[in-house]
Amino acid sequence: VDLQPLNTFGLPARARYFATLADAADLPELVRQPEFDRHTVLWLGGGSNILLMQDYPGLVVHMQNKGIREIRRSDGLVYIEAQAGENWHDFVLHTLNMGLCGLENLSLIPGTVGAAPVQNIGAYGVEVKDVLDSVCCFDLDSGTFVELGNAECGFAYRESLFKQAGKGRYVIVSVRFALKENFSADVRYGDLAAVLAERCAGRAATAKDVSAAVCQIRAEKLPDPKTLGNVGSFFKNPIVGAAQAQALQAQYPQMPHYPQPDGSVKLAAGWLIDQCRLKGFQIGGAAVHEKQALVLVNKQQASAQDVYDLAMHVRAQVQARFGVDLHAEPNWLPLSFTI
Ligand code: EPU
Repeated sequence: VDLQPLNTFGLPARARYFATLADAADLPELVRQPEFDRHTVLWLGGGSNILLMQDYPGLVVHMQNKGIREIRRSDGLVYIEAQAGENWHDFVLHTLNMGLCGLENLSLIPGTVGAAPVQNIGAYGVEVKDVLDSVCCFDLDSGTFVELGNAECGFAYRESLFKQAGKGRYVIVSVRFALKENFSADVRYGDLAAVLAERCAGRAATAKDVSAAVCQIRAEKLPDPKTLGNVGSFFKNPIVGAAQAQALQAQYPQMPHYPQPDGSVKLAAGWLIDQCRLKGFQIGGAAVHEKQALVLVNKQQASAQDVYDLAMHVRAQVQARFGVDLHAEPNWLPLSFTI
């Protein structure tokens, strides 16, 4: 099966075996198939966070299980469960149309509901961990369905149990969210408050207004994968020690920096790359996006090698100038390419 239409960077690759999962209840049967090997299986959602460096040697399972339902309401919170194969943004809109709040800042993020907890997706000051109640998984160790509470998921910035100790063990089949009936805006991040104020022109903002403002900002900076292949932010924002951050700030007073609760400081990878004058820089068919240096794009039928070479170049430039190591945010397949 051709995987090019199933990964948003549009890298050319094929899968040796391919299956579609329309119903999570079919998982116990799927794992008994001869093509199934838990060490080589790829659980594929929207394909917006993977870099396929070569043909996939094992089984690819396309998660297509759908369904959204309300579980219960208590204390102003509404518990909503969505199946892993639901499109993330459609799900966000669905909850906004139900009059619920909490997901508006996470509007227009590509991918599926099931992929959201894996890298703890986040944008405009909110991370999925802030609104996630629990994750229902198929545990390949025990062969049973288990429910993991928020605290068990090991969430951190773009990190979770599902990328670490639980990798290869848990198949996320659905996610439960605790959303609010009453809206309270969280617009502290960047220019969100200003864009929102302009859109609302004096009237009280709603969660839908925040969503529309987030969509507007994202559409201005981030390329639409449908027209220009990409995987969103290509690098994580690096977190450095206080001493290194101070030294860099002394040298570059304009440098964006976000102090973390533990004393470390998060830097803006996009700013660091931008300072190296890499916007628009191209190797083969892969390029640094003109409007947002943190995004690499598929300009012209990029090969996996082009992407790798470009990523290594960007990384080397930032290291040489700032002494900061960038790490890729999406998952490289095979893992041996990981930087
Ligand atoms: N900046 C530049 N030049 C650039 C890009 C950024 O100077 O080319 C500066 C900006 O001016 C700003 C700072 O860097 O001062 C941060 O930029 P921005 O607010 O656009 O956010 P980001 O750090 O580039 C992160 C997330 C995005 C998320 C936005 C908004 C990561 C790796 N990325 O990007 O998430 O949408 O914040 O919250 O944390 C993703 O993960 O795929 C993603 C798009």
